[in-house]
Amino acid sequence: MTNHSHDVDPDTEKIEIALLLEGIFRKYGHDFRRYSYSTMRRRVWHRIHLEGLPTVSALLEKVLHDGVLFHRLLRDLVIPVTEMFRDPDMFLSFRRNVVPILREIPYVRIWHAGCSTGEEAYSMAVLLHEEGLLDKTRIYATDISEDALSRAKEGFIPIDRMKLYTKNYQASGGLASFSDYYVAEHGLVMLKPSLRKNIVFARHNLVTDRSFNEFHVILCRNVMIYFDGELRDRVHGLFHESLASGGFLTVGSKESITFTSRSGCYDAFDDRNRIYRKNP
Ligand SMILES: C[S@@+](CC[C@H](N)C(=O)[O-])C[C@H]1O[C@@H](n2cnc3c(N)ncnc32)[C@H](O)[C@@H]1O
Repeated sequence: MTNHSHDVDPDTEKIEIALLLEGIFRKYGHDFRRYSYSTMRRRVWHRIHLEGLPTVSALLEKVLHDGVLFHRLLRDLVIPVTEMFRDPDMFLSFRRNVVPILREIPYVRIWHAGCSTGEEAYSMAVLLHEEGLLDKTRIYATDISEDALSRAKEGFIPIDRMKLYTKNYQASGGLASFSDYYVAEHGLVMLKPSLRKNIVFARHNLVTDRSFNEFHVILCRNVMIYFDGELRDRVHGLFHESLASGGFLTVGSKESITFTSRSGCYDAFDDRNRIYRKNP
């Protein structure tokens, strides 16, 4: 990027970004104050360049007076990147090692925290369907982004992702053909509505909202990487409180629960695939 930010004194820039995030919080209630500084800085400058503005302070001035611009910035700050059966080995391990334990539970509750446009939750629905567990499972898929959630509810998949998703599905131990799960019409691919029948998509903010149920599995993958250590610890507290005893917590492949406030509360059920089990 053409980076005006290189000319800015780093200490001044830190103040400006802190003021911007404070302004967003006070005006719009979205709390990014404890997100990772380097990510926020990168995303903020991306928006500054697109808007043709000179400084972070100029962006703050605009954001406070222009709700439409704020929504453009919001889309930059939440990073919706996702895919179906992302890290297929995790889904394979889940199928082989976690599913047999879930079979023993009469009614299963799973929470995808930070579900983005829904691909992860739909992948879980496919897996549970194949294992005969979907009918007795309720999947709660939550995110802060209304945009992402409305796309999740529609269940469309971009056609250019099909090759990757089919490959991931096969590598995740898929028992059928991936094409059994979607219909393609007029150049659009839509996941079969039957996959959605046990998924509840809802808005939930991990920073400000509380627990809303007790779960047997929580997946929070590639979300807390954007948080600073203190916020991550707080959210781990929320997950610990929301998990049934013996429940499973899964984080992203570049994340770990080691060095978090709750690391002692879990067994590394499958450390390589970032699946942890809450101690009784
Ligand atoms: C990179 S995506 C990860 C999607 C999916 N879990 C995966 O691993 O493919 C991160 C998601 O976290 C959501 N997110 C960021 N901050 C959040 C918060 N405070 N509460 C809930 N969701 C949040 C973003 O909106 C985005 O959709």
